[in-house]
Amino acid sequence: ASVALASMVVASQAASALTVGFSQVGSESGWRTTFSESVKAEAERRGIDLKFSDAQQKQENQIKAIRSFIAQGVDAIVVAPVVETGWRPVLMEAARSRIPVVIVDRNVDVGNSRLYVTRIAPDFVDEGRKAAGWLMDATGGDCDIVELQGTVGSSAAIGRMEGFNEVLAEYPNAQIVRSQTAEFTRSKGKEVMESILKAEGGGKNLCALWTHNDEMALGAIQAIKEAGLQPGKDILVVSVDAVDDIFTALKAGDVNATVEMSPHLGGPAFDVIDEYLKGKRDFEKWIVMDGEVFTQQNYQAEYNKRMGAE
Ligand code: AHR
Repeated sequence: ASVALASMVVASQAASALTVGFSQVGSESGWRTTFSESVKAEAERRGIDLKFSDAQQKQENQIKAIRSFIAQGVDAIVVAPVVETGWRPVLMEAARSRIPVVIVDRNVDVGNSRLYVTRIAPDFVDEGRKAAGWLMDATGGDCDIVELQGTVGSSAAIGRMEGFNEVLAEYPNAQIVRSQTAEFTRSKGKEVMESILKAEGGGKNLCALWTHNDEMALGAIQAIKEAGLQPGKDILVVSVDAVDDIFTALKAGDVNATVEMSPHLGGPAFDVIDEYLKGKRDFEKWIVMDGEVFTQQNYQAEYNKRMGAE
């Protein structure tokens, strides 16, 4: 009888475990991969049954995944949206099924914030401001800049561009001379930078490269090296994310600064879901995650921590 009782307890615990659907953008960058791994590990740690869907950077795949989560009757849905617009109908479907939705990372423009519980994300505009602030201090505000943008229509690209340009507007001798999307990927970062360097007569007159993420910076520094210039010296490099690979590039002197964006958004998202399911309703609509600026002057302690030397 005691064996039967024990197995009933296990069965009822399993039945009460949360099922959460997570629609992820894709795996376009090292930051994104770490983010996915972190969500999966956190779900496992908490005994959450995570239904993970990789949309391969396509909104239509995300919408399909969300509809399938609704059909399966999950307890909650977490969405990291690829672009800002086009979410209203599917979020209304989730609301009609009374399934709470938490937005993480990029934003959604749905005109009615009651369609999601909260959004957990950094301030992308501020990240752009921090990157530009660092660059203007480093150059005295005199600089011809190349910008590699992230995915067009994503709030990460829109916000970072806005914040960077806002600071630049205060410096009459600083300007963006070329700006193109490289879709947040390393391969595009290299390809687009190669063509920009050609168009700029080899790039000797350029002062800096500003990329909306580290992954594009890592591709672009390859292109700069292959063009016979030294990234980090001939062309300063500033980006966003603070992934492990960028610390190696900071150490090598190939990159000058990065604005940190934490990839550990799963824990806070699951906390919110937990509280929501226990009855809490008064959530801030935006839970802001802050990040540091790492440079060649201050990266060492964080580098040691990540490489396990501390
Ligand atoms: O939305 C966040 C951005 O998306 C990260 O900065 C980038 O690396 C990722 O692809």
